Amino acid sequence: MPVTEAGDDGKHLLTGATGFLGSHIMAGLLSKGRGVVIAGRAAGSESLQERIRKLLNWFGMEHLEGLLEFHETDFLKIRLGLGKDEYESLCGRGLSIIHCASDTSFAEKNRTRVMRSNVENLNEVLNFACASRTRCFHLISSAYAAGIDRLECPEVPVNSKHFNNVYEESKAQAEDIVSAKCRKEQIPHTIIRPSIVYGDSLTGRSLRFNALYFPVRSMQQIRDIYFDEIKNNHGIKSAECGIHIKDDGALHLPMRIFIPKQGKINLIPVNYFTKIILSILETPVNEAIYHITSNHPQSMARLASYTERFLKISGIEVVVGTAAAAEMRNPPEELFDHFIKAYRPYISDQRIFKRENTDRATGGVLPPDFSYEIFERCMAFAVSADWGKKLFQ
Ligand SMILES: NC(=O)c1ccc[n+]([C@@H]2O[C@H](COP(=O)([O-])OP(=O)(O)OC[C@H]3O[C@@H](n4cnc5c(N)ncnc54)[C@H](OP(=O)(O)O)[C@@H]3O)[C@@H](O)[C@H]2O)c1
Repeated sequence: MPVTEAGDDGKHLLTGATGFLGSHIMAGLLSKGRGVVIAGRAAGSESLQERIRKLLNWFGMEHLEGLLEFHETDFLKIRLGLGKDEYESLCGRGLSIIHCASDTSFAEKNRTRVMRSNVENLNEVLNFACASRTRCFHLISSAYAAGIDRLECPEVPVNSKHFNNVYEESKAQAEDIVSAKCRKEQIPHTIIRPSIVYGDSLTGRSLRFNALYFPVRSMQQIRDIYFDEIKNNHGIKSAECGIHIKDDGALHLPMRIFIPKQGKINLIPVNYFTKIILSILETPVNEAIYHITSNHPQSMARLASYTERFLKISGIEVVVGTAAAAEMRNPPEELFDHFIKAYRPYISDQRIFKRENTDRATGGVLPPDFSYEIFERCMAFAVSADWGKKLFQ
């Protein structure tokens, strides 16, 4: 059933606005003249408002700060850590909620923190949703909450028992908790599941340089190690691996990228994500699950050839690896393998994400083809931002 969106004066309460996707949702709403109530945290001595101001500058939207409202919250504390009056006044406004905050670490060593951020934190956020009789609760989940029990993933509740990592597991649990609580309390809700999001396909700009960026950055580091060894250290180790500088100045770097199985990487640009989520927020359907995914995931072979062209290297080969082959890795192969360990499941993924609900909500608008021009724009921006280190300078 369609939901009447956004209470108050059309505002949404947004969590995770200091992050990659949350800040783009914020900017997208602002660009439509919509006010946003930001619920988030300070970082060290920097207040929430100062953090968001920095992001507004990055988006060129500092003149729209007046459309924002700031509430420093702690999701683990009763009433979200807000004073009684502040909480009750927020509750009285019937705001729609976009819950985008999440710990995105895949590492098992961070299990407790990830579960606390993505699952335990939901309690107070959902209590707020119930107390305020929110018009609609939108959970930003992940396509990978689907787990690994089946390859065809429709826009239905997760019924997987097995996951690639704690992140996927926590997102699946969060979906379960949100659906059960909202259904019980008759709160309209949606679940929005993006796949892997990279920078803006038109400008190349991005605020995060993980996922797609990580293998390229790793390859750049490996290239630079061997360039340096050849130029400053006689190139003996390079020669042992057949690595040399060619006549045109490019580095020949013969190495294999081992992927566990034949599969692809599902990518969408952040400007597409924003466009689609804004459409969904216009006319959300209660209990609908939306996949914001690509119908044309990319092969690692294509990404490897884009990377070779961008970094001016040659010699990369993608191999569906066996244990025996992996034992015979040369030093650059070993290094690369180590760098991209956490992302391995996503670069040779066989899951197919169905997207009937998303197509219905958006009139079937698909992400752009992942051309070399888009890749180059995004990577050139990443390099100019020193992979995030120079983002706000
Ligand atoms: N990026 C992707 O490719 C992608 C793909 C699929 C799904 N998603 C989903 O999209 C959402 C946003 O991801 P993202 O890439 O934007 O992540 P991100 O850049 O790491 O941002 C995470 C946001 O969540 C907040 N957060 C994390 N732990 C928190 C906690 N314990 N308490 C309060 N706030 C907390 C962060 O606040 P601080 O800044 O204060 O730490 C930040 O605002 C997540 O739900 C993620 O699962 C992302």
